[in-house]
Amino acid sequence: MTGQPIPVIIDCDTGVDDALALLFAVRHPGLDLRAVTCVAGNTDVDGVVRNTLTVLEQAGAPDIPVARGAARPLIEAARSAQHVHGADGMGDLGLPAPTRTPADIDAIGLLRREILASPRPVTLIPTAPLTNIALLLRTHPEVVRNIERIVWMGGAVAAGNATPVAEFNVWHDPEAAAILLTAGVPITMYGLDVFMRVVVPGEDVRRLRASAEPGARLAGQLLAHRPSAPDPDGDDPAGGLGDAGAVLAVADPGGLTTRRLPVEIALAPGPTRGQTIVDLRTRHGESELHEGEREQALVDVALEVDVRRYVELYLTAVEG
Ligand code: BDR
Ligand code: CA
Repeated sequence: MTGQPIPVIIDCDTGVDDALALLFAVRHPGLDLRAVTCVAGNTDVDGVVRNTLTVLEQAGAPDIPVARGAARPLIEAARSAQHVHGADGMGDLGLPAPTRTPADIDAIGLLRREILASPRPVTLIPTAPLTNIALLLRTHPEVVRNIERIVWMGGAVAAGNATPVAEFNVWHDPEAAAILLTAGVPITMYGLDVFMRVVVPGEDVRRLRASAEPGARLAGQLLAHRPSAPDPDGDDPAGGLGDAGAVLAVADPGGLTTRRLPVEIALAPGPTRGQTIVDLRTRHGESELHEGEREQALVDVALEVDVRRYVELYLTAVEG
């Protein structure tokens, strides 16, 4: 690693894999995690705040400011993912309650304060529904002058998860995702196409779980809650890094292959709502010929990921 650490802020809905992302962010020497903001998503926003504070304490980073944000999407009601993330939203691991409370400022205020106060432009990493980010962009548009880029876990070029075509973070608040695309700063979309592929082998999960160091042990417990492949030995399935991949992509952009492509969010009610429509065409079609071009956001869409490189980077940082 050369140069100064990259100032980053994570906006999350902790969340088993958001927790994996936080563990990496506080332990990688190339990243300077300046704040964490919380939003309703995997569980209710108070649960997200509690989980986030607990993870930071377990990771040995109890001083990073954490703020509570939106309790529900801009338009829809909140819809949790507790069937994936457990009743407490973070795997029901029986972790201790945090010893501190969140910052005395809401998430939008904390985002504004930390972005504008940073001596170098901040990289924003949303790993959750985009409600806080949309509110920030609409309330304090001046922040974009000190945002380097936004590396966003959300969307999918191919299949969705919340619906056949919509990824959870977009499906949860499609209007907010559409506002994100108007930010006017470079955006990288770390979607399901790469998200699903970065998986830690079972033998590494087993070693992490047996670690005497609380942060590494927590990473093992979280990965064990995200089995993504049957374990040939029976006990310890491989575990997906999920949201942590977006933070890996900031620490090591060379591990990701992206293409700058037009992206649009489907907002109409019905089966396509929440889809990220990524235009992979290499030339105009009949719609542009007959109706002209529509203005669309250009996004650096992740299409390939070096899985081994990212898994090694994760383990090296988290195990120290
Ligand atoms: C996303 O949804 C959440 O369940 C995960 O934390 C991740 O951010 C994947 O669709
Ligand atoms: Ca998440």
